[in-house]
Amino acid sequence: MDRSRLFALVCARLQGLVPDWDFAGWPDRISPASHLIADLGLTSVEFVELFVGIEQDLGRTIGFHDLLMVDGRYISDLRIDHLLDYVGARIVSSVPAAEMLPTASQDLQAPHQCSTVDTVMLARFRSIIPHPGRGPEVQIKNRRAVFLLSAPRSGSTLLQTILAGHPGLFAPPELHLLWFQDLAHRKHAFQQDNNRHLVSGAIRAIMELDQIDSAQGEALLDACARQAMPVPQFYALLQRRLGRKRLLVDKTPANAYSQDVLRRAEDQFREPLYVHLVRHPCGMMRSFIDAKLERTVPFMMRHGREFTRDQLAELAWLVCNENITAFLEGIPPERQVRLHYEDLVTSPQASIGALCGFLGLDYRAEMLDAYEDKQARMVDGLHSIGEMSGDLKFHLHGRIDRDAAERWRRFLSEEAASTLTWRLAESLDYARRH
Ligand code: A3P
Repeated sequence: MDRSRLFALVCARLQGLVPDWDFAGWPDRISPASHLIADLGLTSVEFVELFVGIEQDLGRTIGFHDLLMVDGRYISDLRIDHLLDYVGARIVSSVPAAEMLPTASQDLQAPHQCSTVDTVMLARFRSIIPHPGRGPEVQIKNRRAVFLLSAPRSGSTLLQTILAGHPGLFAPPELHLLWFQDLAHRKHAFQQDNNRHLVSGAIRAIMELDQIDSAQGEALLDACARQAMPVPQFYALLQRRLGRKRLLVDKTPANAYSQDVLRRAEDQFREPLYVHLVRHPCGMMRSFIDAKLERTVPFMMRHGREFTRDQLAELAWLVCNENITAFLEGIPPERQVRLHYEDLVTSPQASIGALCGFLGLDYRAEMLDAYEDKQARMVDGLHSIGEMSGDLKFHLHGRIDRDAAERWRRFLSEEAASTLTWRLAESLDYARRH
């Protein structure tokens, strides 16, 4: 495709993203030298939507991660001509991504921060996590489901998408169900601007199962909320629709903030299976810091001001993994497995092969084509990618990216995690190198 057609395609996508613009003044407004954020005012969500839209138009995966990540850091803005160069080169050949990158001037020195997290701070952090309240009454347990347990920023969206590629599994985006007694409480909790998108995983699941559109899916969820349908009943509704041959996979990292919530999986399901996805604490912390995740977690926004972002990142890793570990101590070994994010991205075939064995399924090579068939894998959001409940960065990678395992080492030293965190990390098979 020649450059002018590519430019036109990008312009058309931009117009779709920002429909209020006066495109009569188009030629003056936008040029190859325009910056997407500084000149055109795109938000980071629109950024991702633009890239996914370009892939749709071209009918192929481009993988924008290498364009956006320079020397391990996400660039803060992007000129349209750099985007055109990159996409053009990707289309005509498999030019190594590094040769196409805009020049960067980032400092590669790893800052040697030392963690200040201690037991007092940990107790204080635990005290600001909301209590889930009374759980639902359970008369009859639902049939087996799989729970993917992890701290946030541990690669759970990637794993969910891989699992969604197996015909024996149904792995929708984050369901956000276990915290709540019924669908009315859940609806009430997700009415803020910054958390409304969390309802979308359950709607997306229903859309896929009933083959209906988003308006019909939303209407169905609203009807469930109006009758205050208890959460176990809603899980049963999902399981009925997916039939006896497929296992439901629930990946909701927020569940791990509370052991009470985790225990509800045992209360509501017969012999569920658990996958503990764990990432190196410093890798998760770096990811949390980079995503400014505390801005999207309601209890951190309300009560987290006494902590720095670095501390919140570490405390989130610590609390979630402590809760998961303590919870899994009471679960028979044959119903739980641990998977390291680093193994998943560096040896995906072996990791997913072993995971399939644990789940009693045959391994399917197509599972690893995580960027194929985004619709069937339900990572396309309700109306747009930006409304997806999960990690938007997933869309930028374009492949399972093995370099992501160790990238954090450019920015954090191992001392960025406290002795407390290291103690737990070592029990989860992470070793200090220095
Ligand atoms: P980074 O921010 O370190 O890049 P979660 O889905 O649990 O929120 O995890 C998000 C992390 O998974 C992010 O880590 C994200 O980049 C990483 N991730 C998403 N897709 C990936 C892929 N295809 N290969 C490697 N890592 C991926």
